[in-house]
Amino acid sequence: MAYTYLAVRRDGPVEYVTLNRPDVRNAFNEEVIGELRAWAGHAATDPDLRACVLAGAGKAFCAGADLAWMARMRQYSEEENVRDARAMADMFGALDRLPVPLIGRVHGAALGGGTGLAAVCDIVVASDDAVFGFTEVKLGLLPAVISPFAVAKIGVSLARELMLTGARLSAERARSAGLVHAVVAAGELDRAVDGCVREILSGSPSAIAATKALLSQVAGRRPEDVVDLTSRAIAAQRVSAEGQEGLSAFLEKRPPRWAS
Ligand code: COA
Repeated sequence: MAYTYLAVRRDGPVEYVTLNRPDVRNAFNEEVIGELRAWAGHAATDPDLRACVLAGAGKAFCAGADLAWMARMRQYSEEENVRDARAMADMFGALDRLPVPLIGRVHGAALGGGTGLAAVCDIVVASDDAVFGFTEVKLGLLPAVISPFAVAKIGVSLARELMLTGARLSAERARSAGLVHAVVAAGELDRAVDGCVREILSGSPSAIAATKALLSQVAGRRPEDVVDLTSRAIAAQRVSAEGQEGLSAFLEKRPPRWAS
């Protein structure tokens, strides 16, 4: 599929998708949202895909919603504004639910919806110059669509502080908040992302997919309420081809050969 605002590169089982509106720091408008949603739809049904990396072209990862687009929305009816916001929510949801791990490669600004994009990544590797923040209130807006994803990632307490102040955070503060998993020097960013990709590729594809699906189902629930779910998940995996292969490989002291 051809994209205007995304640069998509495939390397074997890994897809690299780069937001490509560097002149506006990769801010997203309805077209970018449409393309990201379409890309996520394709990625979700690609049986050969094992991991994705989301990055930004130019000086920044993503400056959030396109503020010129937001300003234009004043001429739209409330119903049209709701429809647009729903499309954005659908895009974030589709990224959040990707069946394979999504790694965020964050450099420069990741503000507003840019921090929201980091929140729907499974793993975020940031350069030490990265800046995060739920800056919406500074612009008279609110981090509405991204709030459920952010709260799931950082918890209500931090979300209250960060979303109510709109403060900008260093990469290190974002790491301690749980938005970022590793902070590295800018020149080390690609190497760190590669290491992350390699780690994922060494695991069982079906086990990783099942783990990601399970995590979304158990999050926020009481352990006693998910016993059936978790027991069935591990029972199914133990007897699966990859479950058996992983155990055999360990016991036979050899690398596993994953079926998928
Ligand atoms: N929407 C639309 N355009 C944006 C934008 C956004 N979210 N963020 C930046 N831009 C545009 C600027 O208007 C500028 O356009 P111009 O060259 O026509 O003047 C261009 O991108 C470069 O921005 P600039 O501020 O000059 O670059 P910078 O590298 O010094 O700073 C940011 C980059 C992202 C830190 C800064 O632009 C910023 O704070 N943007 C707002 C981010 C934000 O709060 N987003 C939340 C949205 S809800």
